[in-house]
Order: sequence, then structure tokens, then C-alpha cells
Amino acid sequence: MAVLPIATVGHPELRIVAKEVTREELASAEVQQFIDDLVETMRHANGAGLAATQVLRHQRICAIEVDNNPRYPYKPRVPLTILVNPVLTPLNDDFFANMEGCLSVPGIRGEVKRHTRIHVKAWDRHGNDIEHEIRGLTACTYQHEVDHLDGLLFLDKVVDPSTLTTWDSFNQFHHDAFVERAKALVAKHGS
Ligand code: NI
Repeated sequence: MAVLPIATVGHPELRIVAKEVTREELASAEVQQFIDDLVETMRHANGAGLAATQVLRHQRICAIEVDNNPRYPYKPRVPLTILVNPVLTPLNDDFFANMEGCLSVPGIRGEVKRHTRIHVKAWDRHGNDIEHEIRGLTACTYQHEVDHLDGLLFLDKVVDPSTLTTWDSFNQFHHDAFVERAKALVAKHGS
């Protein structure tokens, strides 16, 4: 396994729309190795998720995992999930103003409106169907990762640039109020 370099904002390839993965590609030793590397890279960087696009591989694959994450200690636990060719469908018009960060946008967080209930359809790393509803803060994480596969960064969706903040300023001025809102969301949706 290998820790891969993560591209940062300004890298033109972060804007590439990733291609769908075929069953043959997914079954290959090479893609399976890549998925192992993606997970290792996500864990090494303490990410809550990592999309293939961020390590400059333009296939629709992303990893999500939250387990006592030091970057996002308020996020509920999410077991390791690999999404291949994910399709997200919003299930409501209820939004949460999420303060997002990204391994490809070092040092900055900003507020993005995310749907609080989504339907996800994807394959797992073995090509088995994943189909379920995801809610709450975890739904925000899913939307962030799938955006990467479409060449989008959270910065593109920050409606009010005055919400942009360094992590230090976030911790100093915005942390407590945000975590209170985040906990209320998690309490409502159970995730
Ligand atoms: Ni990101």
C-alpha cells in the first residue's frame, strides 16, 4: 500500500469530471490496489473522506470513514465505505449550513448548504449494489465527496464568502456555535 500525494486547489485536474468505472476495471488487481491506497491516504491525512480525483485518478471512486476524527471530532462514526459510481438523489429540501473543510483546500473552512436526506446508489468495491438513505451530517460528507468526482470543490458552493475561515479562526470564533448546530442535526437524524 502507498500514501498518495493529494492535489490542492488550483491544480487543474481537480476540475476533471471522473469517468464511470466498468465492472471489469473494478475487478482488476490494479483498481483494487488503488482503492487500498486511497483508504491508506485518507487515513494518513485524517480525512473523513477522499475522492479519487484528489489523488489525480479520474474514476468515480471515493472512500468515506469517520472514527474519532481529530479534524472533525463532532462527526458521528461512519464505517469504512467505498462508493463506486455513486449517484446521490436529494430526498427533501431541508438544508444544513455545513462548515466544510477539505484535504485539497488546506487551512480553510467555509459554509455550504447540503441536503440533510439523500438516497445513494452505488457499488461497493466488489461491485455489489449499495442502495440506501443517508441522513444528517453523514449526508453532507457524501455530497462533498461526490462533488469531487464532478470536478467541484466546496469553495464553489460557498454562497457567502464571509463564512470562509482558517481552521484557527474557526476554532477561536465559530467552533462552539457550529458544533451546537451540528449536534442538533445529528440528534434529529441519528447520523
Ligand atoms: Ni474534499
